[in-house]
Amino acid sequence: MDFDSKIKTIEWIKDKNVSRMVNQLVIPYEYKLVDIKTSDDMFDAIKTMIVRGAPAIGIAGAHGMALAALEIAKTTQNPTEFLQKLKLKADFLKSSRPTAVNLMWAVDKQYDYIKDSGKSVDEMVQMLIDHGIQLENEDIEINKKIGDNGAQLVPKKGATILTHCNAGALATVGYGTALGVVRSAFANDNTIQVFADETRPRQQGARITTFELAMDGIPVTLITDGMSGYFMNKGMIDMVVVGADRIAANGDTANKIGTYNLAIVANYHNVPFYIAAPLSTIDTSIETGNEIPIEERSHDEVTHINGKSVCAEGINVINPGFDVTPASLIKGIITEKGVLYPPYKDSIKKAFGADLYV
Ligand code: MRU
Repeated sequence: MDFDSKIKTIEWIKDKNVSRMVNQLVIPYEYKLVDIKTSDDMFDAIKTMIVRGAPAIGIAGAHGMALAALEIAKTTQNPTEFLQKLKLKADFLKSSRPTAVNLMWAVDKQYDYIKDSGKSVDEMVQMLIDHGIQLENEDIEINKKIGDNGAQLVPKKGATILTHCNAGALATVGYGTALGVVRSAFANDNTIQVFADETRPRQQGARITTFELAMDGIPVTLITDGMSGYFMNKGMIDMVVVGADRIAANGDTANKIGTYNLAIVANYHNVPFYIAAPLSTIDTSIETGNEIPIEERSHDEVTHINGKSVCAEGINVINPGFDVTPASLIKGIITEKGVLYPPYKDSIKKAFGADLYV
């Protein structure tokens, strides 16, 4: 049975040539769609987190390239000039957020798809639109495979699965990576439940994960980030599954800040800690997690909650958006090509086969 999500986070609207996405800034208060009509607006949508989550911002990048192509085609019909201008737009789009590699992957994939095609400008524009839609559709299929592969790892009937941040339908085109595992597991056993870390400072767990699980009728309990050890110590957590923003060739994994702490606590309590992510999140061009660029985000995210200051005026703040969990703490990486186990250098290479992304 397929326990599907009702959410489509991002979708190309063919008759309007716009990218329609769920505005994640207003969840859980409102569920609103917004049409992104230009590549500059796509840059802003990614940067301001209207769209967020590694696979979702990958597709946003792919749509951004189609929007850029439509704009550039109005200024030139010369293929060489078109490609030069598109390359600049690709670099611009890729600079919107630094950590999630799916953005670079999808934008590069779009550019590579047309660069040697020898087609006219109008044909290349259409190719980029169609290819963006293809990547969009593939994302859901990939997540369903991740879900089914991960569901087999759930250790018992009625298990409690802890997750951090949001790696659900709203972090992808639909279904989700870590929450894809939950959805798939729930279809087999509707007595499983989720514990969701609040995920300070942006509260993706509280605002987004609980919202989408509640929408689908999957039982979820919200906890704050510091509570996981308490519940693991009481034997109340059977498994941890989180998403990823970038995985190095050795398996070191960048994910939302706080993931590393969670992995340490899970390992201490012998609770299996898994990453769920598509192969497009694995960056085989970097050897270890030390090379993953970590986004430094606005200090207001830490000093303010709902626009209100929660600390002394002028206090020193530091706000990295992600941390890196060393491969040694990760029991397995759940992908569309199966579950990868240590040593990750070998299992990752094997999963990619000939399609190695470098
Ligand atoms: O800053 P965000 O909300 O874009 O970060 C997303 C994450 O880090 C999530 O943890 C997620 O697991 C990766 S996307 C499936």
